[in-house]
Amino acid sequence: MTLPPVIAIDGPTASGKGTVASLVAEKLGFHYLDSGALYRLVALASEKEGIDVKNGPKLGVLAQKLVISFEKGQIFLNGENVTEAIRTEAIGLRASALATHTEVRSALVGLQHGFRQHPGLVADGRDMASVIFPDAILKVFLTASAQARAERRYKQLIAKGISAKLDDLLRDLQERDARDSSRGAAPLIVAEGAKVLETSDLSIDQAVKAVLDWYQSKGA
Ligand code: CDP
Repeated sequence: MTLPPVIAIDGPTASGKGTVASLVAEKLGFHYLDSGALYRLVALASEKEGIDVKNGPKLGVLAQKLVISFEKGQIFLNGENVTEAIRTEAIGLRASALATHTEVRSALVGLQHGFRQHPGLVADGRDMASVIFPDAILKVFLTASAQARAERRYKQLIAKGISAKLDDLLRDLQERDARDSSRGAAPLIVAEGAKVLETSDLSIDQAVKAVLDWYQSKGA
């Protein structure tokens, strides 16, 4: 039996890949995997349990036993709705720190593969094309300038009623970019065969259309 097709969308923080990926999934009627949410869930759970972010083995064990479920856009961790709780900047930074551990990354592989179901999957993250779904039919590296990304994140947070400072956000995202790109385990890279989509000057609709056009050009 052939495996359902995967569209892998990787990119740096606040590049808009989550928004674009979920809209592409909706248009195609595909499933959607927000892999960053899994790292954020490990961040939240490990913070609650007081596990040091440097303790790879302990974090790996924790990641393996998390009970996670996604239901209608809501995310549950061990039965508790944590949809909002995992979206803070502090949890994002903690997620980026613990994502450097191979123990954590390996613990989440099976869970991610489980999202590959008919009729297809759109997966977003850092290593979707390079590690998790190397046979993806379409690989997109979605990016934007650091300034544009900081502004997008700022607007997102303000819209949610969370206070934020643009300068702090810019500094945080540059720190996260540097760590995600330079780590040894599954660094953020433009995978072989990936198409780069520079979105600093694109609207969400234009970015979604670009991905759909590429997918259709694959004869899908
Ligand atoms: O929302 P944002 O783009 O800032 O981050 P995210 O996609 O929610 O991911 C949070 C953190 O998890 C990132 O900074 C990465 O370090 C890590 N991550 C990863 O290592 N691999 C993935 N496939 C997805 C996220």
